[in-house]
Amino acid sequence: MRKITIAIDGFSSCGKSTMAKSLARSIGYLYFDSGAMYRAVSLYCLEQGISDGDNIDVEKLKASMHKIRITFECDTETKNSITFLNGENVETEIRSLRVSRIVSKVAALDFVRSEMIAQQREMGKQKGFVMDGRDIGTTVFPDAEMKIFVTASAEVRAQRRFDELKNRGDNPDYNEILENVLQRDHLDQTREISPLRKADDAILLDNSHMTLDEQQDWLYKKFSELTKE
Ligand code: DC
Repeated sequence: MRKITIAIDGFSSCGKSTMAKSLARSIGYLYFDSGAMYRAVSLYCLEQGISDGDNIDVEKLKASMHKIRITFECDTETKNSITFLNGENVETEIRSLRVSRIVSKVAALDFVRSEMIAQQREMGKQKGFVMDGRDIGTTVFPDAEMKIFVTASAEVRAQRRFDELKNRGDNPDYNEILENVLQRDHLDQTREISPLRKADDAILLDNSHMTLDEQQDWLYKKFSELTKE
């Protein structure tokens, strides 16, 4: 069966990564989480004093960009993808609220985006992968054979993020998360470079009222239709 490029874009916390990971696993494709790359750059900013948790020293970050290397490895046991920042496993830390708070600002910087896009295209040189993000179907791989744009209501997405943080032992505040979701939606959609938007040829999926299994079935069906010889 011919291998294709699958781009899954959409709003934050709408379950893109879960869907993308699970699809990749079931069809034997690689999975790349482009959001994790912007999160890793944000963590670097916090760790190196480039950000105070609110603002970013843009000139300092620009001068440090060449020192940031982001890679992915597959966990042999869980088969999940793990994000590494300069060789260090940062998979848990990049999901924290302090990273979420600044990531949209970091992702809006042109020199950060151009570096991440170059790294993403390098990773995607060989077909047979699923990449999720905001601009994968519009900017990074505009020729992707399968493009999905996922959305869900802000409240549903905030609840999902809340559950995720609670499950891993944090003590999250729902209203704070909802505010963060709304703020990120706004920044993602209004930024000048590669704003979040549905590609004309992307298929829309609103998963507000769908179970994970239903989403998986839907995605797999789309994949099968597209790859049928
Ligand atoms: O999907 P996520 O919440 O992990 O993404 C983190 C941030 O990175 C989010 O604010 C949007 C941004 N992002 C982006 O600008 N472009 C991408 N391709 C992926 C994520």
